[in-house]
Amino acid sequence: MIPQKTVQEIIDTAKIEDVVGDFVNLKRAGSNLKGLCPFHNEKTPSFVVSPAKNLCKCFGCGKGGDPVRFIMNHENMSFPEALRYLAERYNIAIVEKQLTESQRKERQLADSLFITNQYAADYFNKELMETDEGKSIGLSYFKERGFREETIEHWHLGYTSKQKNSFTLQATQDSHNTDLLKKLGLTTQYGSDFYRERVMFPIRNLSGKIIGFGGRILQKDAKAAKYINSPESDIYNKSRVLFGAYYAKSEIRKLDECVLVEGYTDVISLHQSGITNVVASSGTSLTVGQIQLVSRFTKNMKILYDGDNAGIKAALRGLDLVLEQDMNVKVVLLPDGEDPDSYLQKVGTEAFKKYIDEKADDFIFFKTKLLLEEAKNDPVKKTRLIGSIIESIAKIPNVLKRSLYIKECASIMDVEEKYLVAEANRILESLVKKSETKRLFEKRRAEREKAITPKKTPTPNSNQSPNQNPYANEPSPEDLAAMDAIAAAEEQGIHSIASRPSAKKSGDAFKEKEIIRILVTGCNVIFDKEENITVGQFVLANIQDVLEDFDNLLYHRVATLSLQHLVDEKPLTPQFYIGHEDEEIAQLALDLSTSPNEYSENWQKKWGVTLQTQPQPDENFTLDSVLSLKRFKLAKLIRMSKKSQDEMKLASEKGDVDAVNTQLKMVMKLKQMSSDLAKELNTVVFK
Ligand code: CTP
Ligand code: MN
Repeated sequence: MIPQKTVQEIIDTAKIEDVVGDFVNLKRAGSNLKGLCPFHNEKTPSFVVSPAKNLCKCFGCGKGGDPVRFIMNHENMSFPEALRYLAERYNIAIVEKQLTESQRKERQLADSLFITNQYAADYFNKELMETDEGKSIGLSYFKERGFREETIEHWHLGYTSKQKNSFTLQATQDSHNTDLLKKLGLTTQYGSDFYRERVMFPIRNLSGKIIGFGGRILQKDAKAAKYINSPESDIYNKSRVLFGAYYAKSEIRKLDECVLVEGYTDVISLHQSGITNVVASSGTSLTVGQIQLVSRFTKNMKILYDGDNAGIKAALRGLDLVLEQDMNVKVVLLPDGEDPDSYLQKVGTEAFKKYIDEKADDFIFFKTKLLLEEAKNDPVKKTRLIGSIIESIAKIPNVLKRSLYIKECASIMDVEEKYLVAEANRILESLVKKSETKRLFEKRRAEREKAITPKKTPTPNSNQSPNQNPYANEPSPEDLAAMDAIAAAEEQGIHSIASRPSAKKSGDAFKEKEIIRILVTGCNVIFDKEENITVGQFVLANIQDVLEDFDNLLYHRVATLSLQHLVDEKPLTPQFYIGHEDEEIAQLALDLSTSPNEYSENWQKKWGVTLQTQPQPDENFTLDSVLSLKRFKLAKLIRMSKKSQDEMKLASEKGDVDAVNTQLKMVMKLKQMSSDLAKELNTVVFK
């Protein structure tokens, strides 16, 4: 643990231009610096470094952040690793906090497990390279498969002999603890060697430490499993590991693509011939954790399936979770009977590369065609197929992508687009419900933590001279119109598909974003000098009661976290967000603070969101925050009123007079409130 004081010192010391300058050739451009983006391939520089903001950002790919985030991204480091890196660069001493007894034990255990695994790998490698049995059985097998000696060394492959417990005996003699050997699955409960007569593939974590093994049997007709793999242990969590990731990660980032194959041997063989952005999900079907691991390096994934793959349909089902992580997935089916290794050996590297580039089909289209072929003209099967395809599509978080897929798939399947849209909306609805449940859960948890009570919420003066400020003519009837338009569009089932499930009420989503923008970028600006209140405190105090109405989960999270931060009596600064450990929050903060004017005029027309017309929006925090909050609340009132109207209609259809009256009162009250608020928005002028 790095003490908080030191963390702050590192953050305060690190200069973005130095830190980036170590990796990127920067040239002055006005008050900023510019260079070629290190995160994607480009010919003209769009990577901008702002010493004033102590931030960097690529205007091509969007990546960037403060010095810590830059190092995390560029060097694939965790938050503490990046801090250590910067501390070293700036000669800041880190005095580690005393670990608790259990933390110390945990770390010690992990260290010993790594040491024992490394010992085992060395032992198996020696067995392979230096013993007669190893050479004649193991080594000749690898050579037969075309593995060169340097490849065998690089992957540190090994062999385990026929003998019952030679490894375990030697290991204990070399003072490796038997309990640890058992924990790692190297020794059986009864004290004999777990792996016998197998060739061994060490499995490494992202930093190259050996966390487990895969052992392949060599006898052809054996009843035993072809591969046996280490059990999970304190250092091996199968669902978070990809075989080869340690050797592939830098190439994956450089090429901005990850190739996923099925087997250990495929990975090694492809790497050997120079295709090194390849990993395998060793022995498990793909998990969310593995995808997240890849998504740290790239969003593009190409999955190669063996030509004889019987389980391909089951595999396709699992792939939906790749889509949920917003990855672009392509699928390549190898020719019948081939796996990547065999096909590569058959046709050579260039032809292999060409094949996987040309045959790569978008996952959704691949799935559509595959299932379509199976369904042929069977209407029942076809219905099921459409359901399954749409389910995949609905999981894509990106709006635009989603509607493009719908179009394309409608044409492949020869059905009318509107049916697909309707089906997708149905699925989206249930996804929204799911996330609502999740939010409710989070809400309960948040409620248990005590809520902030700000000293006093200032009410802005309203007796200023009117109509001198461009904001004086804030729209609000537009809000009404926009809400109606959204409702109408939703009734036709069009708009749900054009927007994320969590931000279905798009008009509100932009208002939420505006509030969060003000909170993040202006949090430490003084709102009221006399009351000594900041914009952040003001915003948070005012959204407390509507916090649960936030549609966007990320914004909701930002607001909740900020509240907690204030409760903990820590000051809010833009750095809190930009340097936040939660990647999503840090990226959001970066985007918000580097593009304050991103509203387009169309949006204004469409959603009634006001354009930021001021040349220096940063200076309008006070005004902005008051107005944005009011707009946000207005939208909520309108929504509630619409709901009441609907219920009133329903009640009148049922002939429930009492209910009609109650709802009518409700509607009138809400209308009154919103019209008051609307009026305020029109007439109130702030300094
Ligand atoms: N696998 C496993 N347990 C098995 C079979 C397979 O864990 N009983 C995993 C291994 O990670 C293996 C992958 O599934 O690498 C793919 O299996 P397969 O294609 O059968 O093995 P290959 O690695 O291709 O081995 P080979 O080329 O020697 O057939
Ligand atoms: Mn295979």
